[in-house]
Amino acid sequence: METTNKIRQPIVTVAGHVDSGKTSILDAIRGTKVATGEAGGITQKISFTLFPKDKIIESCPIFQGKGEGKLEIPGFLFIDTPGHAAFTNLRKRGGSLADLAILVVNINEGIMPQTAEVISIFKTNKTPFIIALNKIDAINGWKKNNFGLKEGINSQASHVKANFEEKLYTFMGALNSHGFDAELYYNVEDYTKNIVMVPCSARTGEGIPELLTMLCGLSQKFLKDRLKLGQKPRGVILEVKKEKTVSYAETILYDGILTPNDEIAVATISGEPIVTRIRTMEEIQPLSNKFRPVSTAIAATGLRIQLTSKTDILPGMPFLLHEDNIEEIRKEFAKEITQAIQIDKEGIIVKAESLGSLEAVLTLLRQNNIRVVKAGIGNISKSDVISAKTNLESENPENAIILGFNVNVEPDAEELLPKKAKIFLGEVVYNILDEIRKWQEERQGEILKEKLLSLTSLFKLEILPKYVFRNSNPSIFGVRVLGGRVKANAQLIDNKNEKIGRIKALQEGKQTVQEASVGKELAISIPGQNFERHLSEIQYLYSDISNKQYREFRKNKGILTSEELNVLREIAQIKGF
Ligand code: GTP
Ligand code: MG
Repeated sequence: METTNKIRQPIVTVAGHVDSGKTSILDAIRGTKVATGEAGGITQKISFTLFPKDKIIESCPIFQGKGEGKLEIPGFLFIDTPGHAAFTNLRKRGGSLADLAILVVNINEGIMPQTAEVISIFKTNKTPFIIALNKIDAINGWKKNNFGLKEGINSQASHVKANFEEKLYTFMGALNSHGFDAELYYNVEDYTKNIVMVPCSARTGEGIPELLTMLCGLSQKFLKDRLKLGQKPRGVILEVKKEKTVSYAETILYDGILTPNDEIAVATISGEPIVTRIRTMEEIQPLSNKFRPVSTAIAATGLRIQLTSKTDILPGMPFLLHEDNIEEIRKEFAKEITQAIQIDKEGIIVKAESLGSLEAVLTLLRQNNIRVVKAGIGNISKSDVISAKTNLESENPENAIILGFNVNVEPDAEELLPKKAKIFLGEVVYNILDEIRKWQEERQGEILKEKLLSLTSLFKLEILPKYVFRNSNPSIFGVRVLGGRVKANAQLIDNKNEKIGRIKALQEGKQTVQEASVGKELAISIPGQNFERHLSEIQYLYSDISNKQYREFRKNKGILTSEELNVLREIAQIKGF
């Protein structure tokens, strides 16, 4: 690839377990307070911050005075990720968008499920990373020391230091089992062999300058080749925002130089790239979330662009420069999209606001063994409801679920929704997952019961000898349902396992009915039976079930009422199961 002589900002992704303090560490670096303003204190989607060179110098004593001139990188582009979303979110061709990553770990918690997941993703993507061991201030007895981290650690009371070291060694051991050797930043001798650990506190600011210094050092030492700025612009659409009649795309330009005169191609789900000109282009301001118009943008940076294409651009989609190479672009995009959206033959329907969050939700669902048959970007539409309806008629009706992550339901879609289908909406995937699982379990119970009871009936009847309407051909007499549901066509036995015959018809009052539930009194007719001869001495009748049906009921006894269970036990006794 053609490159310039320039070095671009490293893209640094911050990842780690939920609540480990990712956003807070970025806040501490930037001097902002984003974390406290988030819905539920949880980061929902990726966001970026440009951190300029002069701020690095301001924060890191090592680059001040004599050290001036040692800093070669033009700053950082930091990316905050949701704790619950997979890090693979930020994809670019051939790997992750991140040049470097900070793995944030709560030192008091150690390696959590999400930490382990992030580590394995780093491994797969070969992303270099350093570890921020956050929340040292929460270690019992910890006192802040204003003279730097190393001194801070060494100046702690001996029991506090011992406590810190115990946590540290436990963590190092755990990390070792994931195949990484980590050392405290001041003990690392070989940066190609050891992972750097920087203890820190986003709350007190301890360790934050050291963290930044390490990021700079590693970037300059190991990433220079990778950081050589390419000529051709490449980026990712993060979000599409509508303001009045105009829509803007928030994007990360991760390589090359983009000007408003360029034509770009944006990937789509259907596969045909959208080729469009840029109408306006604004760049993110350092340490801010505000944009300013520019005539050139140099990677890595955040941009807000307005495109001339009327076709909807979807969030999460990659874009690149278009210059008579559409066939090549088509191939590249096709590969990328099929990797991101993998679906099953059957399952629920999922909609999300961007390719990134869709991919994250799909990953999470897969980890939780919830299958997905259809996945898309945008609001829940009529066609999604129709897919849910199809599921309702499939072998797994409990899949009649539409999960909407950060999206809305179109009104005409809502009207169409069948009763036994359900839409789940939310912003926090974890909570929705629990709800989905609960609903699916309940539905599965209901569905199974419907299925079992449609094949077999489970009931106990008491004969009402005062009401014999006809002795034979067929025999017609009154019964009371003592448990379960009696149904037409059910086979009967008595309490000695003698076969009594098949119920031909049920009559409640003057009405012929197909079934009747517990407590009901009704008349039943049994062909080939003679009441006086065979039934006058009998008090109870039961449904005749096979051993296999019995075992099926036993296996699913959770779906039976206690009354039905009693009936099942009595029948089992009679039949000797
Ligand atoms: P998600 O985005 O939801 O994954 O969380 P996060 O990793 O961005 O964590 P966040 O920054 O939102 O912090 C989570 C909680 O930990 C908040 O209540 C913070 O105030 C607290 N917290 C973060 N850093 C520190 C720290 O250094 N010390 C202490 N004591 N608390 C911290
Ligand atoms: Mg966060």
